[in-house]
Amino acid sequence: MRHFQSANSVALAAASRYVRGVLVREERSTDHAAVREIHRAAFASHPDGVIRLVDALRRSLTAELGLSLVSVDGEGSVVGHVLFTHNLLDAPPRLVYVQVLSPLGVRPDVQGRGVGSELVRKGLRALADDGVPMVFLEGSPAYYSRFGFSPAGDHGYRRPSLRIPKAGFQVCLLPKHASWMTGTLVYRHEFWDHDLVGLRPADPRWQLLTDGS
Ligand SMILES: CC(C)(COP(=O)(O)OP(=O)(O)OC[C@H]1O[C@@H](n2cnc3c(N)ncnc32)[C@H](O)[C@@H]1OP(=O)(O)O)[C@@H](O)C(=O)NCCC(=O)NCCS
Repeated sequence: MRHFQSANSVALAAASRYVRGVLVREERSTDHAAVREIHRAAFASHPDGVIRLVDALRRSLTAELGLSLVSVDGEGSVVGHVLFTHNLLDAPPRLVYVQVLSPLGVRPDVQGRGVGSELVRKGLRALADDGVPMVFLEGSPAYYSRFGFSPAGDHGYRRPSLRIPKAGFQVCLLPKHASWMTGTLVYRHEFWDHDLVGLRPADPRWQLLTDGS
């Protein structure tokens, strides 16, 4: 008897084949132009702010603090990028360095094939190995929950802005997290300089704030 795969399982197999041929590595200076193009395409509604933010945040990276990863396909093209930068948690006993994941972008023609997931998983693994206690982000819970992120407010963390929907303010606790590490997330100045914190009324998602979600 012949076995017929459903269209869905054929697509899933193709996606997983594709991502197996994609390498994740640290970004190099020769990748900067390609990374800008990724974000220009991925954040088509507001690319300039995101590109300027990446360029500014990149300057904050040091060998110990922060991580910039790219995905490179079998032909050597950069198809995805994620940036983790160090920010502060204003905890009662002292300030704690934490990481913020922002931005994450994948070239539109290869979205949905696991590229973003590989970047996030590899980044979290590297940061956990470096002893980072937790990673925060603003994003869709439907996407990020699969990597261990959950609403940060449920863990008692306070948002850096009330314009961030509660459900979108998420944290992933890593092994070095300790119970005394509570408090308010304080964003690096670059996020404010580029006005890329939370939502503004012109954003169609502004409604999420008044919904209390
Ligand atoms: C979001 C993004 C990074 C995901 O990368 P990707 O390589 O396409 O994602 P993956 O292939 O790893 O995962 C695909 C899954 O993510 C889901 N997904 C993708 N974008 C999503 C979003 N914005 N919200 C919720 N789920 C999303 C897909 O539905 C799919 O779900 P499934 O596995 O249940 O079928 C990519 O779509 C992108 O660059 N989008 C534009 C920029 C953006 O919104 N960045 C995130 C800002 S926080």
